[in-house]
Amino acid sequence: MGDPSPNASFVSHLECSRTGARYSHDRFRFVSDAGAPLLVRYDLEALKGAITKEKLAGRAPDMWRYLEWLPLASRDDIVSLGEQITPLLPLPRLGAELGAGEILVKDEGRLPTGSFKSRGIAVAVSMAKAFGVKHIAMPTAGNAGAALAAYCARAGIESTVFCPDDAPEITIREIAYHGARTYRVNGLINHCGEIVAAGTEEMGWLDLSTLKEPYRIEGKKTMGLELAEQLGWALPDVIFYPTGGGTGLIGMWKAFEELGAMGWIGAKRPRMVAVQSTRCGPLVKAFDAGHDEVMEPWEPADTLIHGVRVPKPFGDRLCLKVMRDSGGFGSMVDDEEVIAARAEIARAEGVHLSIEGAACFVAFRQELKSGRVSKSERAVLFNCASGLKAELPPAGTRIDRHKPLDFTKSGP
Ligand SMILES: Cc1ncc(COP(=O)(O)O)c(C=O)c1O
Repeated sequence: MGDPSPNASFVSHLECSRTGARYSHDRFRFVSDAGAPLLVRYDLEALKGAITKEKLAGRAPDMWRYLEWLPLASRDDIVSLGEQITPLLPLPRLGAELGAGEILVKDEGRLPTGSFKSRGIAVAVSMAKAFGVKHIAMPTAGNAGAALAAYCARAGIESTVFCPDDAPEITIREIAYHGARTYRVNGLINHCGEIVAAGTEEMGWLDLSTLKEPYRIEGKKTMGLELAEQLGWALPDVIFYPTGGGTGLIGMWKAFEELGAMGWIGAKRPRMVAVQSTRCGPLVKAFDAGHDEVMEPWEPADTLIHGVRVPKPFGDRLCLKVMRDSGGFGSMVDDEEVIAARAEIARAEGVHLSIEGAACFVAFRQELKSGRVSKSERAVLFNCASGLKAELPPAGTRIDRHKPLDFTKSGP
């Protein structure tokens, strides 16, 4: 369809996010010598010369339309399950009720394996395949593991996944269903990460833990590119993002920086709000205390909002920097309020959010009240997974079709 995306990469090098040290991208690298996340850097001048907004507009409506901003050296390296553009759904009834400005839900639940994790995993698995990797391992809260298992199956790569034993049952089964070796760990995601690190040394797996390699973030960056293009290259006032490891927050900000450097967007940036739980809010706590990093893991991290249950994110410094540089902040929400709001939104607007997506709505509502968001602003809330990934309450009234029916009695 239209102008096909090209067969070339504009990557110049990899860069240590802490020291700025440069590394070649000639092989699959993990963290820098300083032990910090590596970021992919591009020759943005060359990239700018290779693509126009008009050319982009004619491309197929999927994530690969942004290939120039991705690290793949060739279209042939793409491992895809059909990563379509996700819609921006307005919430007009709830917006009017709250007296709010425009509320748009970026519904990432439409993506393969039902979550936004497919963006980052699609790019990282594509890169791993290009480098001839045979076996990938990862710790997960559930959705990333499901995406890894599916994309590895697609690529013909083996996968091994470790999840906390109380991760959503559907995602654990989904991981196993796609053929990954699936382990339930009696601990949190950081404990799963420690097991992956130990196994990687022994087994020679490729460790695809959040921010311990540079490519997942590039896939997540497409959320920012896509959002900018969908809104006519004018960014919203504020973005609410359910933040666990923080790849989306960092990835979107990177997209805005690259588009800004190319002159594709003006100086205006959205305030980036990290949404966490009162039962696991390490980034919010560190931000409010004025720290540059999370000083100690959050305990006990027992939130029901699984995606944000990361006691000490590896990319904490990058997340806090994005929150600060954007003029944003952190917002902790009450789990019970989130569970109630999810049902409220499903009934009022027909939009079935994940628990993490509902957390963004609750954070938005509380910050509208606190005054940190104003009534004239356009807000984008990220729904990072399909509502169907989370458990629903029992429902339905049983009837005996052999007996007379009383239609005035309805179910719950
Ligand atoms: C549905 C959902 N929302 C949000 C998150 C957090 O994403 P990130 O790691 O980019 O902070 C996750 C991660 O597990 C998730 O599955």
